[in-house]
Amino acid sequence: MDITPIKSALDDEALTGTTITVAGWVRTFRNDRFIALNDGSTIRNLQCVIDQNAVDAATRARFTTSASVRCTGTLVPSQGSGQRVELQVADVAVLGDSDAEAYPIQPKKHSLEFLRENAHLRFRTNTYSAIFRIRHQVSFGIHEYFDSLGYCYFHSPVITASDAEGAGEMFRVSTLDVKRPPLTEGGDVDWKEDFFGAEARLTVSGQLQAENAATALGKVYTFGPTFRAENSNTTRHLAEFWMVEPEAAFLDLHGDMDLAEGLCKHLIARVLRNSLDDLKFLDARLKEEEATKPKEQRSELGLVDRLRFVLDNPFERITYDQAIDILLRSKPYQKKQFQFPVEWGVDLQSEHERYLVEKHFKKPVIVTGYPAGIKAFYMRVNSPGDFGYSEKGTTVAAMDVLFPGIGEIIGGSQREERLDVLEQRMDEMHVPKGELWWYLDTRRFGTVPHAGFGLGLERFVLFVTGMGNIRDVIPFPRTPKSAAF
Ligand code: 4AD
Ligand code: MG
Repeated sequence: MDITPIKSALDDEALTGTTITVAGWVRTFRNDRFIALNDGSTIRNLQCVIDQNAVDAATRARFTTSASVRCTGTLVPSQGSGQRVELQVADVAVLGDSDAEAYPIQPKKHSLEFLRENAHLRFRTNTYSAIFRIRHQVSFGIHEYFDSLGYCYFHSPVITASDAEGAGEMFRVSTLDVKRPPLTEGGDVDWKEDFFGAEARLTVSGQLQAENAATALGKVYTFGPTFRAENSNTTRHLAEFWMVEPEAAFLDLHGDMDLAEGLCKHLIARVLRNSLDDLKFLDARLKEEEATKPKEQRSELGLVDRLRFVLDNPFERITYDQAIDILLRSKPYQKKQFQFPVEWGVDLQSEHERYLVEKHFKKPVIVTGYPAGIKAFYMRVNSPGDFGYSEKGTTVAAMDVLFPGIGEIIGGSQREERLDVLEQRMDEMHVPKGELWWYLDTRRFGTVPHAGFGLGLERFVLFVTGMGNIRDVIPFPRTPKSAAF
């Protein structure tokens, strides 16, 4: 039996007047006649009209919320308003019952907290089905963008013996007996006895391996799960998240910024084109939520307008020096409203990033030329004349892309391709050169200027869906003290 997606039933005018079969989950059953059926292909439901003479009362009682149902009938122009067509059902079968008393998600508004506790069922709500259809569009758009530019999809490993970001926030991968690990003579755990014969961890980034690939394949990108054991219980951090990391030979900082801005815009355009129904639903949801906030905290633009605005305007590109100047002159700084200090040399905190983006420039901002001390060892050291060079101290060709409502969405840089400079930076930052011999070989044999960045998929999906908590845009979030489902 051919099953027609509800999206096709609603949109494909050629199907009107034909007999089709649809299958999905009951959203509501009204007046003992009208099933609102949803199959996940679209946020819209198909109204399936039951003939009360043909379907007995016992069967009708089984059309409860979330029961799975298959209907065959004629697709006819709708009598009621609100939909173009409806299904005159000739044959209906309940595939799986759903006990209305026991089913936790009722056809009413539930809090996001409640739905997070029912993460395994939350996909059946409009909000979450919309989010995950959009997440698909973004993921697919990532491949589309890089493929169109000649980038090669490169699979970096998930298990690694090196710490790419040098931040030391990694999960261990081991098969040793935690209670009785083998010990060396000195009494330390003997990692040589472990599965990999060395300490192994889950990767925080595929960048270093991507650099190996880029210095052979030219242009590559990784796209996969990454892991960070940072104990930050915020609305923007996950312990397991997805990152996209392009890396390209012969690309400089400016090209890297163009690539990043181009990617963001490509993805937004794709979502506006393919997910307008879902966006409109989330837009209305957001408006409702905004209405509960005090006036000064409400955002000026709705979701769809916000996306169009980002699409239509060039991102602002500034140096760290400029960012610090703007912050020092800002009202919140002068009124001592920032929680974290502002002075040359400190890292920008999310409150500072959001001030720059939301209050000062009112559009996405790319900041470059961060002090070397607060960025990773592999970033290229700036010289006089480089955009981002500073008189105040050594800076690197880092670039962070900051978005409204979120702050940092992309972190990247031009890489240090000069072996001697890189080795010196590694020494200064206590990065073990011995362990990274294979990485340094890219600089030993045919080194080239190259650049790349990492885009946090969930942060981007947060932005395009207008959601406020990163736990709501990944199917099963992993955060400190939480790995349920
Ligand atoms: O700025 P980050 O740490 O950069 C890197 O890992 C580089 N190796 C990327 C590269 O140049 N190839 O992380 C990149 C992005 C951040 O901008 C943020 O969007 C996201 O990854 N991110 C997280 N997202 C969710 N939860 C976390 N704990 C995240 N940490 C970083
Ligand atoms: Mg970063």
